[in-house]
Amino acid sequence: MTVTEERVDGLTAAEQAAFDAVVADDGRIEPRDAMPEGYRRTLVRQIAQHAHSEIIGMQPEGNWITRAPSLRRKAILYAKVQDEAGHGLYLYSAAETLGADRADLLDALHAGKQKYSTIFNYPTLTWADTMAIGWLVDGAAIMNQVPLSRCSYGPYARAMTRVCKEESFHQRQGFEGMLTLVRGTEAQRRMAQDALDRFWWPSLMMFGPPDDASPNSAQSMAWGIKRFSNDELRQKFVDVTAPQADFLGLRVPDPELRWNDERGHYDFGTPDWDEFMRVVKGDGPCNRQRLEARRRAHDEGAWVREAAAAHAARRSAVARAA
Ligand SMILES: [Fe+2]
Ligand SMILES: [Fe+2]
Repeated sequence: MTVTEERVDGLTAAEQAAFDAVVADDGRIEPRDAMPEGYRRTLVRQIAQHAHSEIIGMQPEGNWITRAPSLRRKAILYAKVQDEAGHGLYLYSAAETLGADRADLLDALHAGKQKYSTIFNYPTLTWADTMAIGWLVDGAAIMNQVPLSRCSYGPYARAMTRVCKEESFHQRQGFEGMLTLVRGTEAQRRMAQDALDRFWWPSLMMFGPPDDASPNSAQSMAWGIKRFSNDELRQKFVDVTAPQADFLGLRVPDPELRWNDERGHYDFGTPDWDEFMRVVKGDGPCNRQRLEARRRAHDEGAWVREAAAAHAARRSAVARAA
């Protein structure tokens, strides 16, 4: 008679102990290692959502490539938007190491079953919005992603190392673009201020709901996926970004923003979490437009995927015959 060892969350007690030891020791879990089912599911969901954000995030800025104000700006923006496509590809590959199928993840995105960052549901009305996105949105992405380069899942952590180097270029080109605008004409300065006015609060929302309304965070911290809480990251972002706004001579649209000597941090107001929930649920200014554009790009790219698959099949047939 065989005795089947009892499994909890897909693991035997010995496998769970080995997993816990790696996490406690700040080591890396690799694809071949046994891991709790909940850990795998959480990572697939998070990495997919991250990948979707990278590729949907190409749209608001891609909107300005044909209208960039100079050849230099166009070349920079082109490179930046292509980088975001690359980030999406690393991340879909990282999700595949967990047994997920890229086609399924894209189907879930297209069906609205998996989400992407709410920030990309806001429109880019002016050139300054594109620069504000580089400064604020890529700046917020760096705050989020630098700690992820120390996360417990090896392929995700390693993808973040390269991604963060590129995000840092994105943030700087955005800040430099804002600087050019504030040093330009009065109309350009006003355009920069207007972009900050519209993108400030949605950028703070990028860190997710407040800690007391973020039920899965504690488990993600225990698993070594998350290193800082949403509110901690939001505070770090405000502390870094408020002085940059001062340097630009722009006003952050928050009457409660002020340096607190005692805390050694900036105090700041509360984002409109009702707006956040509306945008999460599909009712932001551009949700429909973004998903439609994504579905269309996917359909129009079908021939590329078919050609790539046919080419790969032919190459392996040739290799087998040799
Ligand atoms: Fe990115
Ligand atoms: Fe970026």
